[in-house]
Amino acid sequence: MKFFIDTANLDQIKEAQALGILDGVTTNPSLMAKEGITGQDNILKHYVAICEAVDGDVSAEVISVDFEGMVKEGEALAALHPQIVVKIPMIKEGVKALKYFSSKGIKTNCTLIFSAGQALLAAKAGATYVSPFIGRLDDVSTDGLNLIQEIRLIYDNYAFDTEILAASVRHTMHIIDCAKIGADVMTGPLSAITGLLNHPLTDIGLAKFLADHKKGN
Ligand code: G3P
Repeated sequence: MKFFIDTANLDQIKEAQALGILDGVTTNPSLMAKEGITGQDNILKHYVAICEAVDGDVSAEVISVDFEGMVKEGEALAALHPQIVVKIPMIKEGVKALKYFSSKGIKTNCTLIFSAGQALLAAKAGATYVSPFIGRLDDVSTDGLNLIQEIRLIYDNYAFDTEILAASVRHTMHIIDCAKIGADVMTGPLSAITGLLNHPLTDIGLAKFLADHKKGN
């Protein structure tokens, strides 16, 4: 399972990278705004800085909602750095753009996926990644993990190459459950990733090992 971090915060990206378990980064316009990154030049520079801080794929989202605009924006983003993956919303024009980028060999991440049908369309259009938002489904009393299961079944039935990127991950159990189902990738906050480290018996056990070592010396 690949681990992506879902943030535009460079310090957190570098902290996850330093752990040695990071496979990539996802961003979106809200995450960029949260870091105070505004203005096209600054946004593009920030994407390059993120790419230079990590080894893997970095999703950069288009703002356009028409095919021509998405193509223009996506090509400019892809030209920024070889690690850039163009993030495209799941709308009719987005499906056309996914097909276009797929034919050009440019990687894509189809975002705002909330149904199996949308995931099927994205795969048919040749998306590299598909991003079902599990936390936002849970927020409206709908089982986000069930959507991951449905997409896994459909993609396996037809051996689609599109990778399931479980997004809107909020906590450690989302990660563990996605891993059990077989999501290819998860993207979540640093807190959910580092949360996987925690177990009280580990802390108690380590404290005892260190105390016993001290007694013996
Ligand atoms: O990057 C998209 C997705 O992960 C957003 O998550 O927490 O805003 O629902 P969230």
